[in-house]
Amino acid sequence: MKLSDNKATLSFSNGAPSIDLPVYSGTMGPDVIDIRKLYAQTGMFTYDPGFMATAACQSGITYIDGDKGELLYRGYPIEELAVNCDFLDICYLILNGERPDEQQKLDFDHQVTHHTMVNEQMHFFLRGFRRDAHPMAVLTGLVGGLSAFYHDSTDITNPRHRHISAIRLIAKMPTLVAMAYKYSVGQPFIYPRNDLSYTGNFLRMMFATPCDEYKVNPVVERALDRIFILHADHEQNASTSTVRLCGSSGTNPFAAIAAGVACLWGPAHGGANEACLNMLEEIQAQGGVAKVGEFMEKVKDKNSGVRLMGFGHRVYKNYDPRAKLMQQTCKEVLESLGLENDPLFKLAMELERIALEDPYFVDRKLYPNVDFYSGIVQRAIGIPTSLFTAIFALARTVGWIAQWNEMLSDPEYKIGRPRQLFNGFPTRSMK
Ligand code: ACO
Repeated sequence: MKLSDNKATLSFSNGAPSIDLPVYSGTMGPDVIDIRKLYAQTGMFTYDPGFMATAACQSGITYIDGDKGELLYRGYPIEELAVNCDFLDICYLILNGERPDEQQKLDFDHQVTHHTMVNEQMHFFLRGFRRDAHPMAVLTGLVGGLSAFYHDSTDITNPRHRHISAIRLIAKMPTLVAMAYKYSVGQPFIYPRNDLSYTGNFLRMMFATPCDEYKVNPVVERALDRIFILHADHEQNASTSTVRLCGSSGTNPFAAIAAGVACLWGPAHGGANEACLNMLEEIQAQGGVAKVGEFMEKVKDKNSGVRLMGFGHRVYKNYDPRAKLMQQTCKEVLESLGLENDPLFKLAMELERIALEDPYFVDRKLYPNVDFYSGIVQRAIGIPTSLFTAIFALARTVGWIAQWNEMLSDPEYKIGRPRQLFNGFPTRSMK
């Protein structure tokens, strides 16, 4: 970051002396006011619940312009990356800052592919869960549990350990998600195969059984790969900030990523695609497109507590560029699987059409987010609704680990320790 010529002056109405605060500029996006010395100089904190106007770190990984509806990974627009790269290209780019050349790509793919197996003991660990456990409960436990199985890559001060743990997490997440799924349906675990792509291998671990070989459908493989690409990183969102905060204490990467998985589970974040599909199914059960108007009235009634899931975003105040790509993928997958008349897709299109014209949504700048269509794609592929957030976690792992790594390499890195405005009892006595 660069110190700007501009500076901010903070003045007080009570006659206390005003202070100057430095302003820094990044390469794009809003400048920031540096308030680190504010408490020392004034005895005051800033108050910003929900981090509405607070940059908690500097980062060079992902850039979002929410007003333009722009998303860049390492400077490249998501629209270009989604059509020219596979997910492992994106992982390399996000982790290393540049796209891989041919040899780097071969090496990286080889490394990830050859770390997809998990310690056999993990199978016994998994068997401790109830069969009906939510996959995100299982995944939170399994990812945290990795730190008990891979002691040899938990020294966070050792760059080699950090690299190995990054590869291990990216490589093993599909295996863990597929294991959680197989366990929930009572089928045997399917071991990874090294002759398949990252996404093809995941599909096979999900859908093959020892009795039936699974042939990877390239349209489905490409669609799921795109879901992974679109979810790979998203700047300082809630789960990424959780990973950073958790990792800032110096904990090991598996523990920090498990914290991210737990945060992602919430319906306002990664759980939205599951909530969105449940919402579509509920409207469909009540009468489908004919009931859309009635449902929208409930959404607009603040007392109903109903939200249009898959709509709205803290940062995008324009169409989420990932939603556009997802809508296109949704059409392709449904056509290729002969499901072009899928009633939920029709319902989603109708909800979107009405919302984009309705002043309630227009005035609040509420547009579809990536989750609005991703659930329909996953459902068409055969992924159960309860597994959607686990798929999101699989894809976001690379973003979490890159952001964690970036934090540890930042000379300004400190343990995260927010302050508070205390409004409880002032000192009192039991006497
Ligand atoms: N349906 C109806 N109204 C909404 C919605 C929605 N989905 N989202 C926001 N609003 C309304 C709010 O009621 C509020 O109205 P008001 O100004 O009259 O009080 C206004 O729009 C602003 O909304 P906030 O909740 O203050 O915005 P915030 O930035 O805090 O929330 C969030 C963003 C949580 C994503 C919200 O839009 C939401 O709950 N959406 C549905 C869940 C969802 O799809 N989450 C996925 C996010 S993307 C991701 O994690 C990959």
